[in-house]
Amino acid sequence: MAEALAEAGANLALMDISGEAVENAARSIASDYGVSVNPVKVDLASESAIRSSCVSVIEHFGRLDILVHSAAFVGTTKLEGWIAPFEEQSLSTWRAALAVNLDAAFILAQTCAPALRASGKGSIINIGSIYGMVGPDLDIYGGTSMGNPAAYAAGKGGLLQLTRWLSTVMAPEVRANMISFGGIERGQPEKFRANYTKRTPLGRMGTEEDAKGAITFLASDLSSYVTGHNLVVDGGWTAW
Ligand SMILES: NC(=O)c1ccc[n+]([C@@H]2O[C@H](COP(=O)([O-])OP(=O)(O)OC[C@H]3O[C@@H](n4cnc5c(N)ncnc54)[C@H](O)[C@@H]3O)[C@@H](O)[C@H]2O)c1
Repeated sequence: MAEALAEAGANLALMDISGEAVENAARSIASDYGVSVNPVKVDLASESAIRSSCVSVIEHFGRLDILVHSAAFVGTTKLEGWIAPFEEQSLSTWRAALAVNLDAAFILAQTCAPALRASGKGSIINIGSIYGMVGPDLDIYGGTSMGNPAAYAAGKGGLLQLTRWLSTVMAPEVRANMISFGGIERGQPEKFRANYTKRTPLGRMGTEEDAKGAITFLASDLSSYVTGHNLVVDGGWTAW
């Protein structure tokens, strides 16, 4: 998604808890697309770290037009009480996941609101999942170490409604939309990929390339009359 925005000419700040990951990504995107990319190591579970990072980024660029919240506890995150049968999922992990997957989106939007309003083209894009819309079929994970925790679903469902709330409250200066992805191929076990593909009308998992059109559309004037929308990019998974 960052590459797609860079390809469209945007200067970027990349935030992640992994400093090495953002530094490498920033270097390669800046050199491939000739834009300015600012790597920011930040723990999105920390309110003060989010607020101070946003202030630094806005000072650095002198403006902010697009805010994307994508970082999350995901199906491959290793934590006790996360990928576990329902009875073994822990409240502490539920809370830790909601801090990053949902609370951070609220803090980011609130801190960036003045700059986004001032932009004249402010666009908030929250990254969701089909599991914020429908329940999981746990059979597709059988025989793998993957799973689908309750907190993931609750966080993404909450994020969808936060997005709708922002879309009316921040209008008309700022648009707020969601992209709900289906399974994106990221080296998952073959068994899972086969199970997933069988259940997907378009007959394959998504690719990172599939994310590019959606993010470019929602970030740019191509979608200037679109707000409060949930753009589902799932190969038809939720259409059955
Ligand atoms: N991969 C999929 O199949 C899929 C499907 C639907 C939705 N999504 C969504 O797409 C987004 C990206 O997921 P992904 O598959 O690329 O996973 P990923 O693990 O590659 O990316 C998640 C990122 O979040 C970062 N992160 C986690 N905790 C953090 C914290 N406390 N502070 C800052 N950064 C933190 C991680 O370091 C990681 O780089 C997520 O919102 C995910 O829910 C992914």
